[in-house]
Amino acid sequence: SDSITVAELAEQLQVSSTEIIKKLMSLGIMATLNQSLDVETVELVALEFDVTVEVKSEEEEKVDELDFDDKPEDLKPRSPVVTVLGHVDHGKTTLLDSIRNTKVTTGEAGGITQHIGAYQVRANENKITFIDTPGHAAFTAMRARGAQVTDIAILVVAADDGVMPQTVEAINHVKAAGVPIIVAVNKIDRPTANVDKIKQEMANYNLVPEEWGGDTVFAEVSALKGEGIDNLLEMIVLVSEMQELKANPNALASGTVIESKLDKGRGPVATVLIRRGTLHVGDSIASGTAYGKVRAMINDKGKNIKKAKPSTPVEILGLSEAPQAGESFRVMENDKTARNLAQQKLNKDKNELMQNNSAVSLDDLFKSI
Ligand code: GTP
Ligand code: MG
Repeated sequence: SDSITVAELAEQLQVSSTEIIKKLMSLGIMATLNQSLDVETVELVALEFDVTVEVKSEEEEKVDELDFDDKPEDLKPRSPVVTVLGHVDHGKTTLLDSIRNTKVTTGEAGGITQHIGAYQVRANENKITFIDTPGHAAFTAMRARGAQVTDIAILVVAADDGVMPQTVEAINHVKAAGVPIIVAVNKIDRPTANVDKIKQEMANYNLVPEEWGGDTVFAEVSALKGEGIDNLLEMIVLVSEMQELKANPNALASGTVIESKLDKGRGPVATVLIRRGTLHVGDSIASGTAYGKVRAMINDKGKNIKKAKPSTPVEILGLSEAPQAGESFRVMENDKTARNLAQQKLNKDKNELMQNNSAVSLDDLFKSI
């Protein structure tokens, strides 16, 4: 809303109304308890209490509402989203390929799997979504933008090597995100593989195998030979069942951009992961400064689809520009609100850029003196 009373402001700032009224008086404004204050006055008073006020537009308020109106009965089970992390050369890509090849290519009609940055596989009754942009950079970038896309992290460690710096980095990232870890001990086909050594090393980081009294799931695999993959998938399903992952499928869709590009023929293309709601062709969406109507939607099997539910990765066409990976996206009620939201983001970016620029030039000025 556009105004707030003295009493309401006092509550928001967690100070007494008398203090607010005193501050107002010092600013030359006489006010009563139930008097409405305009935005500028609120900003002035708040500053006196070292609080900066963020004024939200109608669209932004709408977004807040959209995010919080799920009732328990609206929530339906959804599949887990899994990210693969680990040290260089320990076999992340091979593992993802192995899972895809054994589970997707052979099982699907045509057998051609288009690379869209994420894919879904079926493990018995369950589906699992893998984000195919491994590496800490992607994981960290998404976390930095507040995008909690991963439900489970697979930490790949080569059995013929050991816990390496990037393994430790990955452990720290995942722990900070509060995401359960499954350790995939890879390359068990190698003659020098030593699974016990890996388990010992991991235990030093509080990742203790179940058979040693801990609660970390270890799966032994050979990504190269395709060994242990089914077992790993079963473990993922087990861990995800404990999380009771749910989402409301009957809402305007929102989620995260996994990757995007500018395609010569098709224009801006974004791979998105739906977290909430169902995305339809024809929906008006905004993502960062990009906006548009979803012109077409392509799934991980390269098929055109009309709608997509939570935890599904899809490629979408029709955006005004390619949004950044890690950016959130959301469906708005119509074209206009979608465009307004993107425009507001653009203005915010411009303001920030201007502030940063002036800071930099000031610094440079002092340096040159
Ligand atoms: P980066 O993306 O560079 O960090 O590496 P990565 O973790 O994706 O490793 P990648 O899958 O590229 O595998 C590195 C090397 O290890 C390749 O030569 C793979 O063929 C080999 N490799 C991966 N998994 C296995 C395995 O289970 N057994 C054996 N013997 N070799 C493997
Ligand atoms: Mg790789």
